[in-house]
Amino acid sequence: MTQAPSPSAAGSVATARKAVIPVAGLGTRFLPATKAVPKELLPVVDKPALQYIVEEAVRAGLPELLMVTGRGKEAIADHFDRQPELEAALEKKGDIARLSAVRHASELGAMHFVRQGEARGLGHAVLQAASYVGHETFAVLLGDDLIDSRDRLLERMLDVQQHRGGSVVALLEVPRQEISKYGCASVRETEEEDVWAVTDLVEKPDPDVAPSTLAVIGRYVLSPSIFDALRETPPGSGGEIQLTDGIRALVGRGEPVHGVVFRGRRYDTGDRLDYLKAVVRLAVDREDIGPEFRNWLNGFVAGGA
Ligand code: G1P
Repeated sequence: MTQAPSPSAAGSVATARKAVIPVAGLGTRFLPATKAVPKELLPVVDKPALQYIVEEAVRAGLPELLMVTGRGKEAIADHFDRQPELEAALEKKGDIARLSAVRHASELGAMHFVRQGEARGLGHAVLQAASYVGHETFAVLLGDDLIDSRDRLLERMLDVQQHRGGSVVALLEVPRQEISKYGCASVRETEEEDVWAVTDLVEKPDPDVAPSTLAVIGRYVLSPSIFDALRETPPGSGGEIQLTDGIRALVGRGEPVHGVVFRGRRYDTGDRLDYLKAVVRLAVDREDIGPEFRNWLNGFVAGGA
């Protein structure tokens, strides 16, 4: 598969405008809560986890959003739609704060939806975005990865993509025994301290043979050539079509793929323990309930609650 990279793929300096958010996952780690409620709508304080992701994309300058969804996820479209009856009731009560919170969710960006049909892996989910994305560089944001809004990871990745072209992944240094939960990158350094050139990728390697402890986390800025690569990608880890394998194919074709090393706050809201940590971390920083919650928490930790 040695093929000269096309100018639009390797040398693209186009600014990404579209974000793809795969939300078709079953959420088995959160059963029974996710039996009827999509895991992406579980609240982190008082906002669905997915709304943080959408707000992050819009803040980074990606106002066009595509959700790759599946059966039983209709509530996601409802959440980002208008709710005239609810809005009228809040208006009548004069509850302006909640009214604007409800409206805000429907005014975030241009929201589009496509169904994955079959659960054949993350690469397959991203492939469903091909006709929506067309020939543009685009971002992928995974719903389980909540990046603290004070840490501007996606903005940095878009910036790196603009300067270097090709594709950019987000990398996080993890303990070796945890690398089997992630895509893992082999890298070499660049002149920028937080940017690595990716030389190879492997999905969910055994910790004993993993080429590094650099995990790929759920933010990607991808060249549209990923779609051709994914069409040719056979099922890999877990029998699924892996996005990691598609990006690996881009590296194999000589297209630039870089990794931005993230050192900020990230929560895996698909994991029960990390989900609780995310709720606590974000709640203590809230202006409204933060001070009181922090007080209670201090007492609780001291054994007094
Ligand atoms: C997916 C990707 C994996 C990546 C991870 C980040 O795995 O396949 O490469 O490291 O997201 O959260 P999943 O968590 O869906 O198993």
